[in-house]
Amino acid sequence: MTDAVAHSLSVERAEALSDEDLADLAEATDAAIAEGGGFGWLNPQGRDALTRHFRGLLLVPERELFLARLDGIAVGSALLVRTPRHNEAQAWAATLAHAFIAPYARGHGLARLLVLRVEERAAALGHRVLNLDVRETQATAIALFEGLGYQRWGTHPAYARVNGQTVAGHYFHKLLDPGRGRATGQLVGRDRA
Ligand SMILES: CC(C)(COP(=O)(O)OP(=O)(O)OC[C@H]1O[C@@H](n2cnc3c(N)ncnc32)[C@H](O)[C@@H]1OP(=O)(O)O)[C@@H](O)C(=O)NCCC(=O)NCCS
Repeated sequence: MTDAVAHSLSVERAEALSDEDLADLAEATDAAIAEGGGFGWLNPQGRDALTRHFRGLLLVPERELFLARLDGIAVGSALLVRTPRHNEAQAWAATLAHAFIAPYARGHGLARLLVLRVEERAAALGHRVLNLDVRETQATAIALFEGLGYQRWGTHPAYARVNGQTVAGHYFHKLLDPGRGRATGQLVGRDRA
């Protein structure tokens, strides 16, 4: 989308959501579901169910919610999912999940900012790897992730079932450098010490 108006873009980590933000986020989510990219949902859920969903998310340990705003209004979100405490071996990895921007707010660079903010936070928390997966039909999202340097390492042929069709899904990862210690590329044997 191109327009001459300068918009304000922002992304923040949400520790609480106002009633207004919850209503805006529910509207954004249902609009994304209706357009076909509702991070797993196939049918619009309505404001009450989505409000419960987002309120509930804030209570789940090892999950952080990031809110994208266009001109101050919540129009999308993403989750940083950290490794459960019992999984020490994979504590260096985290997952980026449920990234979406409402169709009416796309094309301004908000998703790019959202993903970069999640990466920054993951790195600041000490994570060295960010994983994500996406249906192969989400071409825009795949272009976004590849443009940001995510490496596709696999494809699951029976990833999802959408409207009676089996859909494959792609798995990506990106190495993060938290800024201390050896470079992550060295730790995975990719770069020379
Ligand atoms: C993917 C999505 C988040 C992109 O949101 P957005 O705010 O419009 O994206 P941005 O404006 O930040 O664009 C970032 C990059 O995405 C890609 N992109 C955006 N719009 C595109 C389009 N219409 N066609 C192709 N690529 C596009 C480009 O690589 C773009 O980078 P560039 O501007 O440097 O070329 C949005 O389309 C969406 O919510 N889709 C449905 C949900 C989904 O697929 N989520 C991901 C898996 S959970």
